[in-house]
This record gives sequence, structure tokens and C-alpha cells, in this order.
Amino acid sequence: MSIEFFTRLPLHGETQFLPGDSRNRGDWHPGGPSTGAVSGFAVGDHFTYIDYLGQVARAAEINGFGGALMVNAPSGEEPWTVCSLLARETRTLKFVTAFQPYHYTPWVAVQQAATYQRATGNRLVWNIINGGSDAIQRQVGDYESHDDRYARATEFMDVVRGYWHNEQFHYDGKYYHADGGGLRGPLKKAELPLICTAGSSVAAREFAAKHADFYLMRAEHPDEIAALIADIRARALKYGRNDIRFGLSIDVIARETETLARAEAQRFFDEGIAKGAVKARAAHAGLRTARKLSYEQGFTDKGDTPGIDDFFIHPNVWTGFGYIGIPPGCALVGSYEKVVARIREYNAIGVDLFVLAGYPHLEEAYRIGEHILPHFRGERAALARLPETPVQLHAANGA
Ligand SMILES: Cc1cc2nc3c(=O)[nH]c(=O)nc-3n(C[C@H](O)[C@H](O)[C@H](O)COP(=O)(O)O)c2cc1C
Repeated sequence: MSIEFFTRLPLHGETQFLPGDSRNRGDWHPGGPSTGAVSGFAVGDHFTYIDYLGQVARAAEINGFGGALMVNAPSGEEPWTVCSLLARETRTLKFVTAFQPYHYTPWVAVQQAATYQRATGNRLVWNIINGGSDAIQRQVGDYESHDDRYARATEFMDVVRGYWHNEQFHYDGKYYHADGGGLRGPLKKAELPLICTAGSSVAAREFAAKHADFYLMRAEHPDEIAALIADIRARALKYGRNDIRFGLSIDVIARETETLARAEAQRFFDEGIAKGAVKARAAHAGLRTARKLSYEQGFTDKGDTPGIDDFFIHPNVWTGFGYIGIPPGCALVGSYEKVVARIREYNAIGVDLFVLAGYPHLEEAYRIGEHILPHFRGERAALARLPETPVQLHAANGA
């Protein structure tokens, strides 16, 4: 099996301390003074938060990460804009931009992506998201129901592929129509971005089965991940596809020794408990998705004074971040050696792409790059599309 490593850019603030803590870098914390010696983080300053994101991106590629995931949330910087700004500051890093189909028409997404791909040597990856929460969708103007959003996404990708691979594409669907458009001229040289998606609802799984090159997951116990992989593979086979691959997002607290790693987990945990972050987590959870992760279901049984050991669901797999409200919720905590072993364990059950990040993202990109990634030299495979297998289009296309 191949293996590849991406990291994450912190688009809604650095998190060396709890989210919102004014000791964090940049201006993504309410009301605190600037953390910078130079920048006041005023609009028009010479140095702004994008400069920090640029540093993280450069650190990531210097340290051997193949790409960077960027989360799209109404409360964060907009990822496609961020990677357009950073593309020319980086040389090799792929950027995973998340967006929802309702953000763009298929044609606008195709044209933007083709331009980006030509300019960057095909370094764009799409994460097609559909919103787990109706409440947040309504806030930003999308009134489709959860399952209809996935139906729309399926059509969206049908049309995107149609425009990408044909000069005169015709389509007549429920959400989209096209009458003869398509990429022409030098734009045709660009590669369609690799397609990622996530979500554990049936609608999300079916969408992934039809259209995703990579199905992304938040880390859980390896048994849960293995079951999810088996389910998605079976669904993809129904569409004649055996080329779907799997990505896992998991934080990392790795140090020279187990003791040092646990001390850092303890620091976060104690701060979270002291500041009542558990309540923040509970408020946030309902807005995210219908399904609780397997380990979240046990959070209510932890009693009044849980300790960090109550949150190891597997050796070195720690869900304390989830308990105190720091997404994605699960982290590998341990010595470098143990963390490498756990990555191999997830790789063996079918995870090809790991999104690894620590706090602060800049320093931890160096740490992971220096102490974890070198163990996988020779096994890495840059992310690329596997030879195409047919995808069933569910509406007529006159290509
Ligand atoms: C690795 C990963 C990255 C994700 N990135 C985003 C994101 O950037 N923006 C977002 O709104 N949701 C993001 N999600 C959430 C999913 O796209 C999806 O909306 C959520 O899991 C709920 O889907 P469901 O209700 O269909 O199960 C991400 C999920 C995973 C596992």
C-alpha cells in the first residue's frame, strides 16, 4: 500500500492554546492584544494572517508534506482564495480547498480550477463538502435539505466532469443545465483536481462512492475506520469503481518520550477543563453533523473529573481533544516510535493519506517533518489520480 502525508493550514486561527485564547498567534481571538512584535494585524498592515499561513505552508513543503488541507467554515478564511494567494509562495505543495457546490456554478468552478492548475502544475485538490448542519446552511443562504444537497453535489460533479472533458457538453438535470459549454484552448491542458469528500450519512457515502478519489475521515478506533472503509469500498463497487482511496485526519502530539507527549496532552486537557471548554464542545457538536463519532458517544459517561487516561480508545489514540472541543477531535499521543507504529497500523487497514497536524502548526510541521515522515521515505507516493474507471452519470449527457 502507498502512503502520503498532508498537513493542515489553520484557517480559523492558530491553536497553541485553546481556541479563542489571546495568547494564540494572529488575530483570530476575540479582544486580545496583538501577539505580533511587528504586525498590529490591522487591514493594510505589511504583515497579516496570510503571512503566517504562508510560513506554515512553506514549513510544510520544506519538511516533506505533500499537501495541506484547508477547512472551509463560515467563521474562517476562505480556502480557495488562501491557496490562490499562497500558490506562488510555494513550489510543490498541493492545496486541498473545501467548498460546497452551492458556492459556485459548475462552470465557474471548472474555469477557476483550470486556471489554477495551469498556473501551479496541477496542485489543486477539491474537498467537496455539503454541510452537516441545516442551521449553518440557512445562515449562509442555502435552503436545500441535507440529502438534497448531496443529490445536487452528484449532479454538480457530473457537470464538472462533462465540462472538463468535452468542448461541447449538454446536460439536463434537476439542478443544472448546460448547452454546449466546455473547456477549450490551453485550459484543456489542466488536470481535473483530485476529488475528496467526507461525511458519514448514507447520502455522503453514496456521493463518495460515485465521485471521490479520496474519502476523508476523522480518526476513530482502527476497527471503526476499517468498517467505514469496507462500507465505502462496497458502495463504490456498485458503481464499477475499485479505485477509491482513503484519507484520515488526525492530530499529533509526538515527543522524544511517552512522558513528554503525555505532558503536552495534559496541558491542553487541564486548560480545557479549567476554561469550561467541554461546554463549548457540546454546543458545537449539534451544529456539525447528525452522527456522533463512536468515541463521542462515551463522553457523557466520563464522570465529573475525568483524566487524560479516560480518553485513550486504543494505544496512543487519544480523544481528549474532542472532549475539550478541538477538532478533528482525535490525536496520536506518544513517542515518535509509537506514533510511527500507529500510523502503520492505520495504513495497513487501508488509509493511504494522512492529514497530520499539531499545535502550533508551524513548529509542529517541523517536528513531524523531522521525526515522523523520514520513517516513511521510500514508501511515499505523490497523490495522483489512478487510471479512470467508469462513473455512471445519472442524467443524459450529450458529449
Ligand atoms: C477530513 C475532513 C475535512 C472536512 N472539512 C470540512 C470543511 O472544510 N468544511 C465543512 O463544512 N465540513 C468539513 N468536513 C465535514 C464533512 O464534509 C461533512 O459535512 C460532515 O462530516 C457531515 O456530513 P454528513 O452529515 O453527511 O454525515 C470535513 C470532514 C472531514 C472528515
